[in-house]
Amino acid sequence: MALILKRGQLPKTPHTEFYAKPGILALEEIHGSYGFSGAYSRKMHVRRYPTEIVAPPAPAAFNLSPKPARKAPLQPYHIRTARLPYGGDFVRSRKTLLWGPATAIAVSKPSRSMPEKEFFRNGENHEAIFVQEGEGVLASEYGEVPFGPEDYLLIPKGTTVQWRLKSPRAFFLIMESLYPLHFAPHYLNSHGQATLMAPVVETEITAPRFVDPVDKEGRHAIWTKHGGGRVTKLVLGHHPFDLSGWEGALYPFAFASSAHHSIAREIHTAPPARQTFQAGQAPYNGFSVCTFRSQVEGWHPKDIPAPYAHYNVDCDEAMFFSNTAYGARRGVIEPGSLTFHPGALPHSPQGNAALESRKARGKISSYLAVMLDTYFESLQPTKEALAVSDKAYALSWHRMAKTARSETASA
Ligand SMILES: [Fe+2]
Repeated sequence: MALILKRGQLPKTPHTEFYAKPGILALEEIHGSYGFSGAYSRKMHVRRYPTEIVAPPAPAAFNLSPKPARKAPLQPYHIRTARLPYGGDFVRSRKTLLWGPATAIAVSKPSRSMPEKEFFRNGENHEAIFVQEGEGVLASEYGEVPFGPEDYLLIPKGTTVQWRLKSPRAFFLIMESLYPLHFAPHYLNSHGQATLMAPVVETEITAPRFVDPVDKEGRHAIWTKHGGGRVTKLVLGHHPFDLSGWEGALYPFAFASSAHHSIAREIHTAPPARQTFQAGQAPYNGFSVCTFRSQVEGWHPKDIPAPYAHYNVDCDEAMFFSNTAYGARRGVIEPGSLTFHPGALPHSPQGNAALESRKARGKISSYLAVMLDTYFESLQPTKEALAVSDKAYALSWHRMAKTARSETASA
């Protein structure tokens, strides 16, 4: 939920007679979350219900289920997503890398738009997507949301989307949650506005640009993900983007990561200060999404800008590095690195990163990374994650400690 919006034409009073076209009763649909109790939108279809399928539902020839790794011991992982290939459209390029009962992290690296008569619906999870590379338009029944590098896209579960690229290829980090996604509540006041102390400004979202309804017949396939990544082909006899209007609080939107305005402190700030979104009721379930981007590092004369070792036993932490400027992992990561630190393990900066970080004291950093922390949920890597993982990562602290000790000794 961000802002309550109203687009196009719809009746003034809910669930009352309305004609978007003369003589044709428009049909109302509620797209809701948390049953009938959470954020929702009211959609008016020009003439057909979205329930009108014209072919027996059939399993797709592909599925998006996580492929469990046979041997994945408890250890820190470094998954080099830049090494995954580009190809296909948004749906077919999608690969799950980390997953748990309520959370999944996937990557999609498409090299083409989705076909004109094909659509995608994540029927089991809400999505927060970070655009590492590429630009285009996220089209849905709500309208069009343009996107570009370093944007987040939030897509409520059940939205019917079509990914259209304007660049030859794109690279998306997909964070999926069983629970609805919204701005971090500790930054919102009781009216749902971001407070004046928050790093986010909710009015900086890019909401869907309303597009006139497509009132057109023809077979339109919606690849619908459900049941742990299975995909069913649902065929409508009309175009799914057929709304005369909609109003409500549940809709896809973009939020530039640069619209996360970092909060600085004299000494090191813990990640909740960098939180942008959360799924569910964090810290009781779901996950938080933090944006690590340019900010003034601690200016205390003895501040250590690198983080402390931390052991958040109720969280599994995944961190995606858009660039390599993050000092705590210098010499280890590459653009597109996804580190995974399960809650049962403490983790810390490597080598002499803590010592080196003193040079950043009081300066503006240039890193860009996205962190996802689950709450009371363990994730595990898939076969596809292990295929591009850095096998030396688990021992990197040990390897780099040797160098660090000798450098400190000779300093
Ligand atoms: Fe961490």
